[in-house]
Amino acid sequence: MSEVVRLERHGDIAAIVVDNPPVNALGQAVRQGLKERLNEAANDDAVRAIVILGAERTFIAGADIREFGKPPQPPSLPEVIEDMDACPKPVIAALHGTALGGGFEVALGCHYRVALDGAKVGLPEVKLGILPGAGGTQRTPRLIGAAKALDMILSGDFVAAEKALSLGLIDEISKAETPLEAGLAFARKAIDEGTPLRRVRDLEDEILADRGKSDVFDAAREKLKKTARGLFSPHKIVDAVQAAVELPFDDGIKRERELFQECVESPQRAGLIHAFFSERQVGKVPGLKGAARRPLISAGVVGGGTMGAGIAVSMLLSGLQVIMIERDEESLARGKATVDKILEASVKRGKLTAGSKAAVMTESFSGSTDYAALSDVDIVVEAVFEDMEVKKGVFAQLDAVLKAGAILATNTSYLDVDALAAGTSRPSDVIGLHFFSPAHVMKLLEIVVGDQTAPEVVATGFALAKRLGKVGVRAGVCDGFIGNRILATYRKQIDYMVEDGASPYEVDDAIRAFGFPMGPFQVSDLAGVDIGWMTRRRLDATRDPRERYVEVADRLYEAGRMGQKSGAGWYLYSEGDRRGAKDPVVENIVAQERAKKGIEPKSFTPEQIQRRYLAAMINEAARVLEEGIALRPLDIDVTLLYGYGFPRWHGGPMKYADMVGLDQILTDIRSYAEEDAFAWQPAKLLVDLVERGENFESLNK
Ligand code: CAA
Ligand code: NAI
Repeated sequence: MSEVVRLERHGDIAAIVVDNPPVNALGQAVRQGLKERLNEAANDDAVRAIVILGAERTFIAGADIREFGKPPQPPSLPEVIEDMDACPKPVIAALHGTALGGGFEVALGCHYRVALDGAKVGLPEVKLGILPGAGGTQRTPRLIGAAKALDMILSGDFVAAEKALSLGLIDEISKAETPLEAGLAFARKAIDEGTPLRRVRDLEDEILADRGKSDVFDAAREKLKKTARGLFSPHKIVDAVQAAVELPFDDGIKRERELFQECVESPQRAGLIHAFFSERQVGKVPGLKGAARRPLISAGVVGGGTMGAGIAVSMLLSGLQVIMIERDEESLARGKATVDKILEASVKRGKLTAGSKAAVMTESFSGSTDYAALSDVDIVVEAVFEDMEVKKGVFAQLDAVLKAGAILATNTSYLDVDALAAGTSRPSDVIGLHFFSPAHVMKLLEIVVGDQTAPEVVATGFALAKRLGKVGVRAGVCDGFIGNRILATYRKQIDYMVEDGASPYEVDDAIRAFGFPMGPFQVSDLAGVDIGWMTRRRLDATRDPRERYVEVADRLYEAGRMGQKSGAGWYLYSEGDRRGAKDPVVENIVAQERAKKGIEPKSFTPEQIQRRYLAAMINEAARVLEEGIALRPLDIDVTLLYGYGFPRWHGGPMKYADMVGLDQILTDIRSYAEEDAFAWQPAKLLVDLVERGENFESLNK
């Protein structure tokens, strides 16, 4: 007898309860249990109706994702659902919490669906690189038509009970307190009224209009060219829904299964599922168990520039009280105006009501040029100029006014958090909170832990990330922490390739073709060519003389080509154009620099560009791990996914390296080292892993 699924008798109604915490996922034992309990209830003459529900916090939230990629264990979910569908007694799904993926497919295989208020349903498989493979692509269009089914399955978005009812995905919303009560009441009525069984497989009304026509599917495929660039499973979803419209149900189910299998076998499934679990692991930091979080009610932001304003907005929208400090009234007015502008844009996009914006601006937000205004706040994030002396001055003033227990955070991109902490009387309260630009949008927050940072301060950093809707990643102190340090290394390889013969435009095309949303030169134009210039000047004093230095970007800077903001950078921008056009002037500058160094340009294929870019990224990432700057490979994956546009379906650089094979990556690095031994010293950890025949995943455990 399976413990994860139990059968309860309530008079002539049988309740089959799935009890498999935390989310009642449909692992093998649950499938087996469902099949057996259903069989038992179906064959019991005393049972006249069957209710299926989930214990604790939710209905079934889907297949057990951990089983994908392993040999399938019978019974399969489609087989279990077929039994429900074929059952001669009414089978009712009673939904609460989230009925997702295979969980919602179970509900669709029942004859009726009743939901508690607040329940949500959805088919989020697309987010994991697969498709609903247990009838979801066949039954959903039979209930709501092909176009709406495509919207739902291609977005993977959750649908709230009320909307699900109006669409026809569920039959009733119950006012009952528990799913059991709701299911029993529905079943009682079905028995008493002799309601006929309604099998979704037999419904045709909603799909007839599209049969023999391809308009809906052509439109969906056209849209995918923009919205699903590089992705595999969305295209298969359209094929599967088209099969639902065109084929008899049993043939459609077979087709769905074949397409599902193709998705399961694609590397994108492995990458996306790795991303799903990594996101959930990244906040579980060893050593923080039991560390109490400090309360967060009010915050200070010092500096109201690009980052300070974005951080203030993010905090305000999370319900924190925010005080902005600037160096003079004029700068303060500018900082406050930026906050106002960002919030106004949210109102225009319908994300915030005008009333809430007004309330935030008047009741939660204030500004001052006097640090004394911060005397009572719980946390301060400093976002002033990237200059150690300026930041030290700010920290000294904070140290003088903040209450005991307040957290002093810096948003520095590169500077030494320990040096800043050492300048205060309370180094254990100092931490790095590295936001990404635009700070109110970007999901990543690097939580930079100094030598003396107290565990409660780190735990509070993670709590803040969660509250702001961001993903916090623990990082150690070094130049650039996890993300910018790795970026600096692979960014250099781009410059080398350009000097050796690739055009910046070929590079951008190749990187986008791998799946990054933008190429590195487009990013440079967006951030400002001057930003890179300042970083290089900061590093001049410590740059190793053996390091190759490419001057092309300096020439652009000297020519006043600062990127989008000045109308020209690596690309040329006409009024109102943010995409930019290729510019022969840049190609000329590159050619001159090559000529100066006597470099004979060679050509690079897109694959060669991608391989070097990724090998540099992976090699530096291995070093970051080796030095303990990142705790686990998954922390690096999440950093690159959320802060640097690494394509999610590749899982992150560490997962990607595992999928390519570490020996292959090391072979590439060694071959590049023949040209530039200084830049391509293989990381010791990478060499060790290859020698031991292990992969990065082995270090995630
Ligand atoms: N399989 C295995 N484990 C799962 C899981 C699943 N489907 N869904 C969630 N979990 C695990 C999480 O990894 C987490 O584990 P830890 O506590 O060990 O970290 C735990 O359940 C709780 O999850 P969350 O932290 O995400 O909790 P939440 O309350 O914030 O969210 C949720 C709950 C909305 C269900 C969210 O977990 C979620 O979206 N899960 C994925 C749902 C999904 O994609 N379902 C479709 C699966 S594919 C499928 O069903 C294919 C098919 O057609 C057969
Ligand atoms: P910015 O130049 O836009 O803003 C800095 C602001 O700080 C200015 O408004 C200035 O008036 C104010 N300021 C300077 N000294 C001050 C003082 N003593 N007291 C109060 N205010 C003072 O700079 P930006 O881009 O916002 O960067 C700020 C910090 O964030 C830097 O450390 C930077 O490295 C970091 N950062 C920047 C990112 C970006 O993409 N711009 C991304 C992540 C971090």
